[in-house]
Amino acid sequence: MANGLRGLPDSFLRVLVVFLVLIVAVIVIGGALPTEFKDHSRHVQATIAREAALPIRFAGSTECGTCHDEARLKQIGYHRNLSCETCHGAAKAHTENPVEVKPAAPRKRESCATCHHFDPSRPTGFAQINPVMHFPRQACISCHDPHQAQPPSVPEECSACHAEIARTKAVSPHALLECTECHTVPAEHKVAPRITRASIPTERGFCGKCHDKDTATLQPPKIDINTHGEKYLCWQCHYPHMPEVR
Ligand code: HEC
Ligand code: HEC
Ligand code: HEC
Ligand code: HEC
Ligand code: HEC
Ligand code: HEC
Ligand code: HEC
Ligand code: HEC
Repeated sequence: MANGLRGLPDSFLRVLVVFLVLIVAVIVIGGALPTEFKDHSRHVQATIAREAALPIRFAGSTECGTCHDEARLKQIGYHRNLSCETCHGAAKAHTENPVEVKPAAPRKRESCATCHHFDPSRPTGFAQINPVMHFPRQACISCHDPHQAQPPSVPEECSACHAEIARTKAVSPHALLECTECHTVPAEHKVAPRITRASIPTERGFCGKCHDKDTATLQPPKIDINTHGEKYLCWQCHYPHMPEVR
């Protein structure tokens, strides 16, 4: 017989029976278990007791300020979001016995580089340096105060921060063009580059003012701006800092 109760297929009834047996089993076993097996509060209490018994190693970010002026300095600088113990290590023991227990101070270049060496996966705009190029063989703290970190002086040259672009342009057909020919750069950009932005050309006509066949400028090679690569911005095909043709 292919069909059983009320015309349902046998295979369906067999699966139904298995499920019913399982559900009954769960209810029966659940009822038979002693209550302490089912009580979550015991587990929670045991975990709290275990964690609370661990020794406290970190004093927390506000504690240090009661004795050290560095806390006030750090508050107004770029490192304001770092806790003291990020650099100095766990220092609870020091706060309880300041004279005998001394936290270590990370004076080596490597310790600053942990956060600042160039790594393309860091957030855009995060301050990065190449430790091989950036004033090698000198301690970072000889120029930067770790508690009020900032560049010691405002650099004049664009190449201080855009070295790769400057080097690229220097050997390109655009070598004689100043950066400021194409970018408008407020003085504030050199102090806070991520807050005050330099401009970037936005339209084809910008390149056309030197390269369009109808312009009077003599030297630059000419193209017809109406037909040459017409659908795209010039710099979708020519890298502006190294415009190559072939
Ligand atoms: C109760 C006051 C007190 C608190 C709180 C305190 N310190 Fe100190 N700290 C001192 C004193 C006093 C010294 C100087 C000890 C000496 O030179 O004999 C010192 C020295 C230091 C030094 C220099 C060690 C050295 O080798 O010269 C560092 C670094 C330091 N503290 C970091 C911290 C950090 C980080 C915290 C917060 C977690 C902190 N301190 C909290 C009192 C305190
Ligand atoms: C970016 C890492 C960094 C952070 C964050 C930091 N420090 Fe330091 N700290 C250093 C370094 C590096 C030195 C060693 C400076 C030196 O030798 O000139 C130092 C030195 C010290 C000294 C000894 C000062 C001296 O002249 O010998 C104290 C005290 C101190 N730090 C306290 C603090 C406190 C308090 C905080 C938090 C408010 C803090 N530091 C945050 C890196 C840091
Ligand atoms: C735990 C990570 C960390 C460590 C270690 C660290 N820094 Fe920083 N640093 C930061 C952060 C975060 C900023 C803030 C970046 C921002 O606001 O754009 C910063 C900012 C700076 C700036 C300002 C950059 C600018 O935009 O002008 C300088 C300079 C600097 N750090 C130097 C140092 C030096 C020197 C050391 C070693 C004593 C050091 N840092 C260690 C995280 C770190
Ligand atoms: C001889 C002094 C000197 C030493 C040593 C030095 N710096 Fe600098 N740092 C500067 C100057 C000057 C600037 C400003 C930009 C420039 O001229 O390159 C700067 C800029 C920076 C910036 C900001 C870069 C940006 O893009 O905004 C960071 C971060 C930095 N330094 C971290 C470090 C770290 C980390 C070390 C150690 C590995 C270090 N510096 C060693 C002088 C120094
Ligand atoms: C103190 C370092 C510094 C100096 C000096 C500097 N810049 Fe920048 N500039 C930066 C940083 C950092 C960024 C990246 C900001 C970001 O990506 O968030 C930037 C971004 C730019 C951008 C891209 C802007 C954008 O919106 O994407 C241009 C264009 C630029 N700079 C041109 C210049 C020119 C031209 C000069 C010289 C007149 C110059 N910069 C000097 C640090 C500097
Ligand atoms: C011929 C005009 C021209 C000159 C000269 C020029 N730039 Fe640019 N720059 C551009 C254009 C156009 C872009 C936009 C490129 C894009 O969006 O792909 C740009 C983009 C940038 C950016 C953004 C990041 C990037 O690579 O796209 C920076 C930073 C920058 N320029 C810095 C400089 C510096 C520093 C100099 C001088 C050494 C300079 N530029 C010279 C036209 C120029
Ligand atoms: C201020 C004038 C000026 C502006 C603006 C300018 N250029 Fe140039 N361009 C030149 C000069 C000068 C040369 C070099 C000619 C030579 O080598 O004899 C050149 C060379 C070139 C070349 C190489 C041509 C060849 O035959 O090798 C290309 C491609 C180019 N520019 C593209 C661009 C693009 C794209 C822009 C816009 C982002 C731009 N230029 C903006 C002046 C300019
Ligand atoms: C679709 C890609 C594309 C776009 C967009 C484009 N170009 Fe070109 N450009 C080329 C190619 C490919 C060549 C070399 C072949 C040729 O001469 O047509 C070239 C050649 C040039 C030359 C050299 C001409 C010569 O006689 O030596 C200049 C200058 C130039 N482009 C400027 C520009 C300017 C300015 C713009 C924006 C108005 C622009 N290009 C947009 C692809 C493009």
